[in-house]
Formats: sequence, C-alpha cells, structure tokens
Amino acid sequence: MSQVSHDQYRENVAGRANVADTPELLAYYQELERFAAGALWTVANKIEPWQPKSESVPMIWRYRDLRPYVVRSAELVTPEQAGRRVIYLNNPGRRDVAAAVGWLYSGLQTMKPGELASAHAHSASALRFIMEGRGAFTIVDGHKMTLERNDFVLTPNGTWHEHGVSAEGTPCIWQDGLDIPLVNAMEAGFYVVHPELNQAVTHPVDDSTDTWAATALHPQGKVWSKPYSPLFRYEWEPTYESLRRYARATEGSPFDGVLMNYVNPLTGGPVMPTMGASMQMLRPGEKTKAHRHTGSFLYQVAKGSGYSIVNGKRLDWTERDIFCVPSWAFPDHANANQTDDACLFCFNDLPVMNALGLYREQALAENDGQQPVLWSDSCDS
Ligand SMILES: [Fe+2]
Ligand SMILES: [Fe+2]
Repeated sequence: MSQVSHDQYRENVAGRANVADTPELLAYYQELERFAAGALWTVANKIEPWQPKSESVPMIWRYRDLRPYVVRSAELVTPEQAGRRVIYLNNPGRRDVAAAVGWLYSGLQTMKPGELASAHAHSASALRFIMEGRGAFTIVDGHKMTLERNDFVLTPNGTWHEHGVSAEGTPCIWQDGLDIPLVNAMEAGFYVVHPELNQAVTHPVDDSTDTWAATALHPQGKVWSKPYSPLFRYEWEPTYESLRRYARATEGSPFDGVLMNYVNPLTGGPVMPTMGASMQMLRPGEKTKAHRHTGSFLYQVAKGSGYSIVNGKRLDWTERDIFCVPSWAFPDHANANQTDDACLFCFNDLPVMNALGLYREQALAENDGQQPVLWSDSCDS
C-alpha cells in the first residue's frame, strides 16, 4: 500500500502541531482511516490557519468585456428555457461553489421588452442593482416596483418574486447578488416555483417605496415583523443626494470616503439578515488608505472611474465594472477624476460576520496606509 505524507502541515512553533511521520504513526493513521477517523495533529494547522485565508482571487469583471455576451444571451435562450437568463461571475478560486467572492454569488441578467420570468421563491436572499435600460420591474410578495438605473432592489429570502420588462421599455441589464453559496454551505437551500407561474400584484405599484422611503419619518400604525427591510427599492437619486449632503457635513472615513449603508428603516440594521449593502462616494481625486475586514465584498461602479488596489493587485475600473475584495484582503480606492465624484455600490456578508461574532477590522500600519502595487489585472486585453 502506498504511503501518504501526513506531516506536510507541520509548524515549528510552540502551540502548533509539529509531529513527524514515523512508520508506527503512519500505520496508526491508516488504521484510523478504516473507521472514518483521523488524528487532529495531522490537519490542525491546515484547518486552523493563523488568519483568514481566502480562496477567492481579487478580480475585476469589466462591463465592456461581458456586456456583449450578456446581450447575446437574449438571442440564445428564452427566460422560460433558462429560468433566469444570467451570465454569472465565476471567481477562479471559487468555481466549486459558483461564487463571485467568498460565499456570495453574482451575475448579470438581461430581459427584453415584454418578457416576464416565472415567479419563484428560495432560501437564498437576493438583491439587484440596475445597470441599464428602461421599463424593468420586480414583484415581491405582490408589491410591484418599477426600476431605474442605479436603483438597489431587495428580494428577501422566502418571498415570491419575479422580474420583467414592460412592453414599452428597452432591453434591461442588472446585477444579481445572492447568498446561494452561503446557503448551500449551510445545507439549507430550498427552491419553489410559483404554482401559477406568476403572482398577482396585490398592492399599489411602488407602495413599498411610497410607504417606507421617507427620511426620518415612519408611517403611523404600520407594522412589520419580517426579519428584512420593508423597503424593497432604494432609488438612486435620493441615495446620491444623501451622499452629497453627508459629504458636506463630514470628513469621511480615511478608508472608505463618504460611505452610507442601505438600512432597514425600522431597525437601522442591514437590509437582510445575511447580506448588507452600501453606496460610497469618493470625492474628486480622493485616494483612501488601506484597511481590511473579515467578510466578502462585491463592488459595482455606479458612477465615475478610478482604481482600487486589492492585496497589491491594481484594478482599474469605470462605470458598470464589478470587482471583488476577498475576506481579510486589504483594499484601497482612488477616484481618478479631479473634478467629479465617483460612487461605488457594494454588497457584502457583513451581517453574517456581525451576527456570528466574527467581524474584525485592521488598518494597514505600514507606509501611512498606502500599499504598493505588485501586479495589475491582465484580463483587459
Ligand atoms: Fe430568485
Ligand atoms: Fe472598508
């Protein structure tokens, strides 16, 4: 029988596993394997690294590269055939779980005028960020929302939801973000197609925004007991205006510029139990310092152009590009425009990190928080 090494994770550090293979130990390990068991010291250093070790690669998906393929998908398959007509972002380090980064999935979905996808519900929480087109709408549990460019929309877990584009609209593209890999890792995923394939609109159109989007005002007598935000659509114009106003009142964060979180208006907490989202403004010419967090982050450039450095990899971005920051990787961000602001939409799994007591944050101590560029993205040929 061929011998397998069991000591490749040894570390010569006090408190860490450091056991050399011997013929007697190898025979012992083999016997344990017969009973589907093993000696922890052969794997302890591997399964308990000193700090988070992300499998995810810092990546940028440029819209100019992907858009032609997204548009072409509309000629290749119908929404009925595909269920959802989506080109998904497949991080080279996370192909086994179809994640864009960490435990987060993302894709670009397109629909043509007059198309309506079938209604369904799933355990995964979902969000979308509208990239282009006119006439898109989403229906969540009977609440219909009309959608515009740069709007941020929720389809929380367990809700019946469907998407479409009105016959008078134009072809639409949006980014989907889901926690599918996380839910699968938890082995908790269910998926149901609506028995009638489509649901009725049972509330006035845009009632969610009309009811819950008012700043610092709550409707009298309205109750809501769900674990996610009752506001399903966060419109771009008031979001951008809020950032501009906040920028007048703050120096901003040295790491993130002027950043505001999308929140559940009733709790001030994240929009959904597993995923949070934010919009941040980098002022003209602003270059932030690097810091890192536990948690996975997927950014979309809502406005402007610039670059981010993620663990030494420079990612040059412009409007509609998507890039990721893996857990515990150092990001910093720069607005390349000296006269106009840039805005980055981001969604993340921070609510999970916070709920489980796993959140940590650390500023880059060296070089006044500026990290060197070690390599740049080569996919932009
Ligand atoms: Fe869905
Ligand atoms: Fe940050």
